[in-house]
Amino acid sequence: MSSPSGDAFRYAHAHRTEVAWLSQNTNHLVPPEVIREALEEAIRERRYEGYPLASGDPELLDLVTADLGIAGQRPFLTGGGTESLYMISRALLAPGDEVVASDPSYLIIHRFVELAGARTRNLDIYAPPYRLTPERVREAIGPRTKMILLIDPLNPLGSGYSREEVRAIAEIAHDHHLYLLNDITYRDFSDGHALAAEFSPEETVTVWSVSKNCGLAGMRIGGFLARPELSSRIARFNTNDLGVNVLAQVAARAALRTKPRWIGEVLRQTRANGARVREVVAGVPSTSLPVYPSRANMMVIDTAATGLTPDAIQEELLYRHGVFVRAGNYLSPSHGQRFVRVSFSNPASDIERFARAFPEAIRVLSARAPAPPPA
Ligand SMILES: Cc1ncc(COP(=O)(O)O)c(C=O)c1O
Repeated sequence: MSSPSGDAFRYAHAHRTEVAWLSQNTNHLVPPEVIREALEEAIRERRYEGYPLASGDPELLDLVTADLGIAGQRPFLTGGGTESLYMISRALLAPGDEVVASDPSYLIIHRFVELAGARTRNLDIYAPPYRLTPERVREAIGPRTKMILLIDPLNPLGSGYSREEVRAIAEIAHDHHLYLLNDITYRDFSDGHALAAEFSPEETVTVWSVSKNCGLAGMRIGGFLARPELSSRIARFNTNDLGVNVLAQVAARAALRTKPRWIGEVLRQTRANGARVREVVAGVPSTSLPVYPSRANMMVIDTAATGLTPDAIQEELLYRHGVFVRAGNYLSPSHGQRFVRVSFSNPASDIERFARAFPEAIRVLSARAPAPPPA
């Protein structure tokens, strides 16, 4: 890894106990004893010595089904939602196919689409309403279109879709016989979130994860749901034939069993932190929030008017202040030079470090930067 962001990750991991990790939308607010007790028991029982049940822990599968409330579809476990996204792209797309998607977006999915020989048609959403609209999705459909990518809420912008919008996009998928890839990684952060599978159960593949809602990103467990025939087609591309990490399953089960007890407090703190980030950004000249409030646990801070590069801001915050945010270039081919992304499911003390560091970093970098040429 020789890129600036590769170096940043290496540095941040080496200093992880000192760094305020606001760079990967991870969740640091789930009561740790919930996970610890379950893992300790599993380790005492030496569960790691044997393979898991390949189809997944039955109680975990039931908990996922109950959590999402989608009838008639059985969840499939994979190594994070990421592995599902890869399998879906390989299984459902062929060379020449097109996927209606957005820019900004979670571009790893776009890369998987390209690996299947297909391409994304990226609709520019870096302008109000900062999300796809049913009208634009409809217009973008052409003879090669095979799939619509609906990430809701959307990483990195934090924008999300109303029930009516999800219904309209699901109906477009149904009417045009397109797959609808509904990535709901950040669902729990959004009030009134609607699942596309409710409206187009035949066409929709739902990708879920416990990385963000349950604070289990390091465990690498998530999955997908689809109707049985479609699920089997995707499952042919499963590489985890012997099952997903047994300790990850134990942790996910413990988290989902107890979620009703702690999710309210996770949301309360996340939203209070979002409001604090907004206050900080409002006090820093030439910076702004395109989307507020976020329906997820991250936001984009537009820094274009500062004339600074997002990489410079990321580096200054990390190396001088121990605050790790993410430069936009990994999230948008067209607008990546305009923003940094900050996530905030963190203890309030991390956000206070950001509150001290961000104004100072912009001030110091601006003083160092050459004056812009006369207009
Ligand atoms: C939109 C989106 N989908 C999927 C993922 C991957 O999640 P997982 O950790 O379950 O692989 C992420 C992670 O940031 C994401 O932002």
